[in-house]
Amino acid sequence: MPAHRNSLNPEGSPTRPAPLRLGVNIDHVATLRNARGGVHPDPLRAAHLAIEGGADGITAHLREDRRHISDTDISRLKNELTRPLNLEMAATDEMLQIAIRHVPNACCLVPERREERTTEGGLDVQGSVKTLKPFVAKLQDAGIRVSLFIEPDIKTIEAAAAVGADIVELHTGRYCNLALEHDAAGVARELERHAKAARAAAAAGLEVHAGHGLTYNTVKPISRMPEMAELNIGHFLIGEAIFGGLSAAVRRMRLLMDEARDEPFRVGRTG
Ligand code: PXP
Repeated sequence: MPAHRNSLNPEGSPTRPAPLRLGVNIDHVATLRNARGGVHPDPLRAAHLAIEGGADGITAHLREDRRHISDTDISRLKNELTRPLNLEMAATDEMLQIAIRHVPNACCLVPERREERTTEGGLDVQGSVKTLKPFVAKLQDAGIRVSLFIEPDIKTIEAAAAVGADIVELHTGRYCNLALEHDAAGVARELERHAKAARAAAAAGLEVHAGHGLTYNTVKPISRMPEMAELNIGHFLIGEAIFGGLSAAVRRMRLLMDEARDEPFRVGRTG
């Protein structure tokens, strides 16, 4: 299997794509813990179970209002995890200091609005090139890979390359919402946008990730995109864990991703 991250061998003919990593987002274990203010359930214990189920890494979003993950969670995850930590955060001075203190494997920069329930859209990279460029450089100087959470949009990808990001994470929220509404035309349109964006990002030298709202039903078409290197999935897996345990939920998601990786990618394939 080629070591480089897209699916083309040096002669340019398609081969089996590189393996797709799964990052499990454990924010909502902390949401449940915080509902009662104690220590149970413990996000670190959840992280260990996710890894047991096949997670390649753990993702956690330290929000400015600390509504779920806490500063202590981040330090415990960083110190005790056996797999890479992906820290999601807003591009603020406070978060920059925290990231530099803990040196996670990667930081995913996300837009943040206090009134939102979840991260509702991608970063405005084009409108923030001046501030993002030095911010990205400071994280990279500390040895942290930098990802930008963006809409699957070509101009935004060009801007992400211009600010020096290592990775773009494509926001799959709209695709997943349309799938929930059984809007077949909308789903096909969104998948096409993601496929184009993934190709453009890989061509610009960016590693391609995706996430938000993914479920057992929506993970396969995204996983088949050959440029895709990592998916970050949280809410659905934590919800499923209530019914069958977290390791089992992660194991099933991993299996679907691996199956999809062995199936041919075809433009227009939605299921
Ligand atoms: N990726 C990013 C950048 C996110 O902000 C989130 C949500 O915190 C996710 C992935 C995971 O989304 P979900 O919890 O809907 O699976």
